[in-house]
Amino acid sequence: MKFWKKLSHAEQDRRITEALSLNIDYKQKVSLGVPASKLDGTVFYDQAPFLKEAPLLRTYVANPNHIGCHTLGESEEFFKGTQDIEREVIELLAVDVLKAEEGSCDGYVAAGGTEANIQAAWIYRNYFKQEHGAKQGEIALLGSQDTHYSIAKAANLLNLQWYSVPVDDTSRMIIEAELDRVVQEAMTAGVKYFIIISNMATTMFGSVDNPDVYAACMDKYKAQFKLHLDGAFGGFIYPISTPESNVNFSNPHVSSVTLDAHKMLQAPYGTGIFIARKGLMPYVFTKEAQYVHGQDITLSGSRSGANAIAIWMILVTYGPHGWFEKINKLLYRTDWCCKQLDSMGVEYYRRPKMNIITIRAKYVPNHIAAKHGLVPDTHDDNPGWYKIVVMDHVEVEHLQAFLDDLGKN
Ligand SMILES: Cc1ncc(COP(=O)(O)O)c(C=O)c1O
Repeated sequence: MKFWKKLSHAEQDRRITEALSLNIDYKQKVSLGVPASKLDGTVFYDQAPFLKEAPLLRTYVANPNHIGCHTLGESEEFFKGTQDIEREVIELLAVDVLKAEEGSCDGYVAAGGTEANIQAAWIYRNYFKQEHGAKQGEIALLGSQDTHYSIAKAANLLNLQWYSVPVDDTSRMIIEAELDRVVQEAMTAGVKYFIIISNMATTMFGSVDNPDVYAACMDKYKAQFKLHLDGAFGGFIYPISTPESNVNFSNPHVSSVTLDAHKMLQAPYGTGIFIARKGLMPYVFTKEAQYVHGQDITLSGSRSGANAIAIWMILVTYGPHGWFEKINKLLYRTDWCCKQLDSMGVEYYRRPKMNIITIRAKYVPNHIAAKHGLVPDTHDDNPGWYKIVVMDHVEVEHLQAFLDDLGKN
């Protein structure tokens, strides 16, 4: 690990205090033109004694605005201390988790996985237009049928066709013959440029696509493509549990990645993460954003700098080994539950080294699913699957209670 280290609470406090001291202090420096301030002191009292012990809450009170992207070009001077920490988070994740070369990526903390996925599609649509003179109808999104619906949103917003590739019902793997058929169909309809969304891992199954399957198909048809990894769910587990995989920046086909700290990392909401190889972010430069210092190349405008601090604190509180242990605890519980299901003859899907178990709905009566909070693949009357996501709060005792009910049925 080059950047990911464990830090004590005192070390974190020092670093955040220093960062905040480099940001604007509205009490010390009057800035007449900035439409921003610290949180309203009448409501959020900034002398509350507990704030001394709580650097994240102090950051919320100081209310830094991280508008823009801070891994390239210039940024707003007012918040440079906490922007540094955001830069550190992006570099740590790119290099130590996603195996990028040092200094080879840009990125920012987005509202969530949806925004980060849309940011990717937006960049690539513009890239194909600017670099290849592509016409709107010649660019399309491509991904598996298990891909998150944020891609359907991206297609709608960016006015792109969305081609969905069927997966095998049992293995949840892309059916290569179907991929071939869908790509041919798209090309017959005039598509020349593909924006591929490869999953790490899917929302309902935790299945992980092999980016090289897409790349081989693109190669076969000599089609231009850019490939984005949607790691909103799996990004903080799969690269840790399966470090030898090709689902990261060590794979030259991968251009960008979405991670979501507000899922597996249990960070506050508003902690999606978008990371792209250098040179890509400028394709969404909004030249009209003249009052913002530096380049506005992010889908969100104003966004809280406290979110980057929250992600950083979680990462350095655990450190790489602590995080590895935590992931393995969840995988142990998942393994345990799968063993019990096997002995009961219940059919389910589970990607090895992932913490989602998706059970065929015919084995789970509705009332048991409702009692234990299992999530169906569809909320109509006829779900095909129910999933269990083994998060921190899902303990073996809870799984046991569910299995007992299932056994009695
Ligand atoms: C694979 C995947 N991508 C994207 C998203 C969207 O993330 P968010 O809800 O943070 O926008 C989700 C959410 O469940 C997801 O599982």
